[in-house]
Amino acid sequence: MSISQESPIGIFDSGIGGLTVVKAIRKALPLENIIYFGDTARVPYGIKSVETVRQYALQITDFLLRKKVKLVLIACNTVSAAAHEDVKARCGKIPALGVIEAGSRAAVEAGGKTIGVIGTLATIGSEAYDKSLSQLDSGISVYSRACPLLVPLAEEGWTNNEIATLTLKTYLSDLRNKNLDSLILGCTHYPLFHDGIADLFDGTGTKIIDSAESIAKMATELLTSRKIMNSEESTRKGNFECYVSDKPQRFQQLAERFLGEKINRIEIVNLN
Ligand code: DGL
Repeated sequence: MSISQESPIGIFDSGIGGLTVVKAIRKALPLENIIYFGDTARVPYGIKSVETVRQYALQITDFLLRKKVKLVLIACNTVSAAAHEDVKARCGKIPALGVIEAGSRAAVEAGGKTIGVIGTLATIGSEAYDKSLSQLDSGISVYSRACPLLVPLAEEGWTNNEIATLTLKTYLSDLRNKNLDSLILGCTHYPLFHDGIADLFDGTGTKIIDSAESIAKMATELLTSRKIMNSEESTRKGNFECYVSDKPQRFQQLAERFLGEKINRIEIVNLN
């Protein structure tokens, strides 16, 4: 079967966090069929080496290509930082977008020359956002900070309590004093802390850039320009197929928090 408008969009992440990207895509492109893969057996990626993340990313890309996707979205910032070029090369003619290029573009479009980035240790250590931002505008100054505790807090559901407030304050106080024009939420889990982060930056004029929304915008533009958007004359929502590499029960319990809707069926897949 060749690629058509009805072909699915493949979205992948190290685990559950990429559902924030699925949520943004479902909102922007409700008719699209989606195949999601969360690598729950090997999460977290944010503390692993570039080589390991690259190898995992290519295995998942092969899985999505076997599913005949028309577009691959790398929802995971850590994968986008380590392996976007490798994934693109593996995809050949099928386009592959990553959250880092999307978030960087959105920050530059939002205006200003001073940009903050927060992400996992791997994403911040790779300086991928710094490189991507300076390619778009060499006059930009980037201030970044790894916030590794935010991933486990989000998975625990502690996004809006005293512990979250104190953690955000500890991580972000320095950045708050940098007169940032915008702050990129460079990790799948961070949109869940959006309100707490916005409160901290209240009064500074700093715009909060959600890379999930940014990649949904880029995907919309790409499908439109290539004329492969699903324009089926129907009121039904696109299909959503969900695959994980381990423990679908826990994934199912947490999914609603990230996606805002229940997932009825999750299949387990062994990539090895
Ligand atoms: N999905 C990862 C990211 O966006 C966060 C979780 C992990 O470390 O695997 O960087």
